[in-house]
Amino acid sequence: MESTSGPDRVFQIAGIAGSLRHGSLNRALLRAAAELAPPSLHIAIHDLRPIPLYDGDVEAQEVPAPVVALREVVRAADGLLIVTPEYNHGVPGVLKNAIDWLSRPPRASALRGKPAALIGASPGTTGTARAQSQLRQAFVFTNTYVMPQPEVLVARAHEKLDQSGVLTDQATRAALEAFLKAFSGWVARLAAP
Ligand code: FNR
Repeated sequence: MESTSGPDRVFQIAGIAGSLRHGSLNRALLRAAAELAPPSLHIAIHDLRPIPLYDGDVEAQEVPAPVVALREVVRAADGLLIVTPEYNHGVPGVLKNAIDWLSRPPRASALRGKPAALIGASPGTTGTARAQSQLRQAFVFTNTYVMPQPEVLVARAHEKLDQSGVLTDQATRAALEAFLKAFSGWVARLAAP
């Protein structure tokens, strides 16, 4: 008889998009990921707008409350899903800044040993390939376990998401679903028991 029960465990995933703008393709892609996630993944979306610029003097005095909150969210999560735009062949400052805050203190950071996965969307033809590569480099330093494959690089994203931010392209939806299933397996392998 076919089982009707749910997954053994639902992994809690912190989802972050590296764009602040309301009509962001990447924020829309993160919303699509939250919708298409398998029952074993729950993706909660977190906003980077309240995160101030990293400043070592501020950090030395008192870590700002939005940073403390984001660190707690990531620390408590079983995994981290990052949806990155690409700016000038690299990671947007908004996202890099958040990662810099999250990476502190280095030996006890919320990123250390955290399973993670990257996706990204751009209207161009390379679909954030370079930004994703840069993020992978940063995550070597932070000892964050980024899933190597599959990759999701949404090129010509303005043709795949409609005006209201719905991911309408069926091939991209299927790729995202397969990616999220793989991420669930990645988190299951690495998550704390
Ligand atoms: C861009 N864009 C861009 N796209 C790309 O594929 N490679 C790049 O290097 C850049 N560089 C770049 C720099 C800056 C400063 C901006 C503002 C934009 C275009 C970018 O992909 C596009 O604006 C996306 O729509 C940004 O992502 P969101 O905000 O839609 O999520």
